[in-house]
Amino acid sequence: MSRTVLVVGGGGREHALVRALARCPERPRILCAGGNAGIARDAELIPLDLADVRGVAALAPALGVDLVVVGPEAPLVAGMVDAVRAAGVRAFGPSAAAARLEGSKAFAKEVMAAAGVPTARAVTVTDLDAGLAAVDELGLPVAVKADGLAAGKGVVVARTREEARDALAACLVDGAFGDAGRVVVVEEGMTGPEVSLLAITDGSAVARFPAARDYKPIGEGNTGPNTGGMGSVSPVPDIPDDLADELVDRVHRPVIAEMARRGTPVSGVLYAGLMMTPDGPRVLEFNTRFGDPETQALLPRLQDDLLGLLTACADGGLPDRPVRVHDGAAVTVVLASHGYPGSPRTGDVILGLEEAAATGAEIYHCGTAPGPDGTIVTAGGRVLAVSARGADVAEARARAYEAAGMITFEGRQMRGDIAAGMEARA
Ligand code: AMP
Ligand code: GLY
Repeated sequence: MSRTVLVVGGGGREHALVRALARCPERPRILCAGGNAGIARDAELIPLDLADVRGVAALAPALGVDLVVVGPEAPLVAGMVDAVRAAGVRAFGPSAAAARLEGSKAFAKEVMAAAGVPTARAVTVTDLDAGLAAVDELGLPVAVKADGLAAGKGVVVARTREEARDALAACLVDGAFGDAGRVVVVEEGMTGPEVSLLAITDGSAVARFPAARDYKPIGEGNTGPNTGGMGSVSPVPDIPDDLADELVDRVHRPVIAEMARRGTPVSGVLYAGLMMTPDGPRVLEFNTRFGDPETQALLPRLQDDLLGLLTACADGGLPDRPVRVHDGAAVTVVLASHGYPGSPRTGDVILGLEEAAATGAEIYHCGTAPGPDGTIVTAGGRVLAVSARGADVAEARARAYEAAGMITFEGRQMRGDIAAGMEARA
């Protein structure tokens, strides 16, 4: 009998996980807690509040689940994996103690210092005066970072002392991020291209994915406010496999060893957000989950059996080698709703989904819901992530845009420059 997997989360990343699990030779039964109108076609939706760590832990054994895969950071930091394991069910993802690498930037800095991992100089502060002293010590520009989870909005790169003061005051005086901003990491400003290097681990072995890049700002040419990510590409032509291996040796392995030494091994994903500065690679942040929308460009290329990899991370015994991927490249283009990232409008009817899918592209749903008369409507900021593979970045890009262009809804926002300028070098 095939196993039952419960995916927790309801966005584009989780839809990509569900689809990749559905392709596994074992053909597992797939349940999804959260879900959306697209995931509903590929998995059985379980109505569950993602914040309800105990509820998920109680339901997993009752539903006969063999493996729980937790997508988003908040339930990980809240201890969902610990609770599921305590209920006797296997879980892919970090314990709350290991998820602190993502949940506290100050903690991540401390671990990096202990492990000798290259990252920007930084000072951790809890009041405005100490923050301003740190700005003066580090010099401008500086990155002002809320310590805790802030849904991607907790970082300001300040070019003037005024901007730095405002960012510090927002966290430390006005409480803009609540408890997540009571501690602030002030970090020296760096420059250079960014890369997302994701690896899965069982606490000792490391299996990296090819490098990926996401496009965070809403506007073309990386202008305007940051979003959850407007597109992604993998591989990244300036990060060939041998450099990716070297980065894993310098960043992921020392952090994984340090966490094991502390008695809080990392299992699940260790995602390093890196900046390739003129002085060498530097870690910007860690996440302990799959990236969104990087996952939508990584999983379509996966050749290994995802269920086997995730199970090996949970049980131990993961092979220590890069994951096997199909040659070529994949590009993901995100379609976002009117008003995103400020106040996204919902309820706009989406047209063209079938036509776009018929091109062979993967149409992952992020924020969609069933609408009137069998329609599907927008239900969030990021609505869809359209991914396509190709022999190289140029071909993948052309296919992704061809499919994305077929999907329309009122107020649709789409960047036209995802993976542009990489074509010649892939
Ligand atoms: P983080 O959430 O720490 O990855 O930061 C979000 C974004 O802020 C990154 O993707 C970078 O574009 C930018 N950023 C973070 N830290 C720095 C830094 N020290 N110097 C320059 N830019 C930074
Ligand atoms: N793509 C950035 C993230 O998942 O945090």
